[in-house]
Amino acid sequence: MSSRTAGPGKRNEEETMSAPLHFHIRTFGCQMNVHDSEQLGELLRRSGHAETSRERKADLIVVNTCSIRRKAEQKVFSLLGRFRSLKEANPALLIAVCGCMGQKFKGELIEQFPQVDLVAGTHNIDRIPALVERLRNGDGPLVETDFRESVPSIGVVAPPGPGRVSAWVTIMQGCNNFCAFCVVPHLRGREESRPPGDILREIETLAEGGVREVTLLGQNVNSYGATLGNGDTFPRLLREIDAVDGLERIRFTTSHPKDLSDELIDCFRSVKKLCGHIHLPVQSGSDRILERMNRRYTAAAYVDRVERLRRTCPGIAVTTDIIVGFPGETDEDFRATLALMKAVKFDGAFSFKYSVREGTAASRFDGHLDERVKGARLTELQALQEQHTLERNRLIEGRLEEVLVEGFSRNSGNDVTGRTRSNRIVNFPGNAAMIGRTLPVRIVEACAHSLRGERPGNEEVIHAG
Ligand code: SAH
Ligand code: SF4
Ligand code: F3S
Repeated sequence: MSSRTAGPGKRNEEETMSAPLHFHIRTFGCQMNVHDSEQLGELLRRSGHAETSRERKADLIVVNTCSIRRKAEQKVFSLLGRFRSLKEANPALLIAVCGCMGQKFKGELIEQFPQVDLVAGTHNIDRIPALVERLRNGDGPLVETDFRESVPSIGVVAPPGPGRVSAWVTIMQGCNNFCAFCVVPHLRGREESRPPGDILREIETLAEGGVREVTLLGQNVNSYGATLGNGDTFPRLLREIDAVDGLERIRFTTSHPKDLSDELIDCFRSVKKLCGHIHLPVQSGSDRILERMNRRYTAAAYVDRVERLRRTCPGIAVTTDIIVGFPGETDEDFRATLALMKAVKFDGAFSFKYSVREGTAASRFDGHLDERVKGARLTELQALQEQHTLERNRLIEGRLEEVLVEGFSRNSGNDVTGRTRSNRIVNFPGNAAMIGRTLPVRIVEACAHSLRGERPGNEEVIHAG
C-alpha cells in the first residue's frame, strides 16, 4: 500500500505535511513490544511530532497491544472502551492500535470500537507515521496488517536519552516453533534474522551514544542465523558484539531449551561481556505435557542444560516461564513441574495459568481444566518459587557484585539502582555521578525482589564508565 507522502514525488515518508501532533503511546506485552514502541516514538519524532506523557493532552494515542493471554487482551478492550469519552470530548483525537491484537483482530477492532481510526499489524509499525498523515487528510479509518518479508521498523535506532545506560536491540523477528499454546508465530510471522552487519552498526551507534548494556531480542535467539543461510550463528554474533568498544554488557532473551547448544553455553565463559543470566522457559516438568506442548525436549534434557550452564558459568542466574493447567495436565504432571523446580531452583520464574488462544493447536485439545484448578496450582507453584528466589538471592549476601548503575531508585532519592551481571536489582546509597558506571557493591541484604547493597570502603571502579 502506498501513502500520500511517499510515491513518485519522492517525498520522504518521514516528513509531515501538517502541523505537529502530540502523541502518547501505551504499551502492553513483551520486551519486543516495548522496543517496537520506542522505535515508533522515534519515527513519530522524526516526523516532527512531540511525545506527551499525558493521555488527555494527546492528539494521537497509539496502543501497542499483546495477545499472549486473554487477560492481556481484556486490558486493551477496556482501555479502548474508555477512549470513547475522550474522543467525544475531542473529535479531532486520533486513536491507533498496533501490535499483536492489531494483527489478530484487524478491521474487527474498528467495527467493535468505532473510536479507533487506525489498526496496524506487527509488520507495519514503521508505516504508522505515513498512515497517520493519511488519516489527517481525511482518509480513514485504515487497516494495515500485511505480513512483509523484511520489516524495516527493526533497527530504527532511537538516540539514547541522557543518562540512558541500557538498550534493546532486535536481532530477529517472528517464530517458527509453533508451541501448541502460543499465538506468537501466528501474529509475528515466520522467523527472520537481521544481517549481523546491521546489528553491529546499531550497537556501535548505541555505544557511542553512551549505552553500556544491550539486550538482544528475539523469540528464540538461539536459532539466530538459520534463515540467513550463510553460516552465521548466534555464538558468532555474540563474539562480534563482544568486540564493540565502549559496550560493557551483553544480554539476550529468549532462549529455547531445544536449541541451546554446547557452543552457546560455552559463550558464558568465553564472551567476556556476556552477563551470567539466562532466561530459559521450561513451561512444564512433565514429559507428557512437554510433548503435547510441542516443546521438543524432555525434563531431563532441560535439567542437563542447566547443569552444564552452571558448570560453565558458576553463579549464572537461570530464570524461566511456566504454564500451569495446560489441557490434559493431571495432578501428577503438575507435581512433575514442582519436582523440576526443586531440582533446578530457579532464580526467578514467570508463571501463568494456561489461557486458550483461538487458532492454536492446544485450543482444540481435550482436557481443558477448570479455572479453579489452574488457580490453585498457580498459587502453590508461586509460593514454592518465592522460597527459591529468596534462597538464591541469599546465596550472594555478603558478596561483592559488579553493578551497572541505571539511575536513582524510585523509592528513595538517596539511593541509586542498578543490576548485577546476574540481573538482580540492587539499591544502594549513591549519587548522580555513578549513573552509567559499573561499580563494585557489597550485598548486605537479600529481599524477595531486590537486594540491598553498600559501597565497599575503597572507591575502586571495576570498569571506567
Ligand atoms: N518466545 C518466548 C516466550 C514468548 S511468550 C519463548 O519461547 O520462550 C512468554 C511466555 O508466555 C511463554 O514462555 C509462556 O510461558 C507464556 N504463554 C504463552 N502462551 C500462553 C498461553 N496460551 N497461556 C498461558 N501462558 C502462555
Ligand atoms: Fe511461542 Fe514457542 Fe515461539 Fe516462544 S518458541 S514464541 S513460546 S511458539
Ligand atoms: Fe504479546 Fe505479541 Fe509479545 S502476543 S508477548 S506482544 S509477541
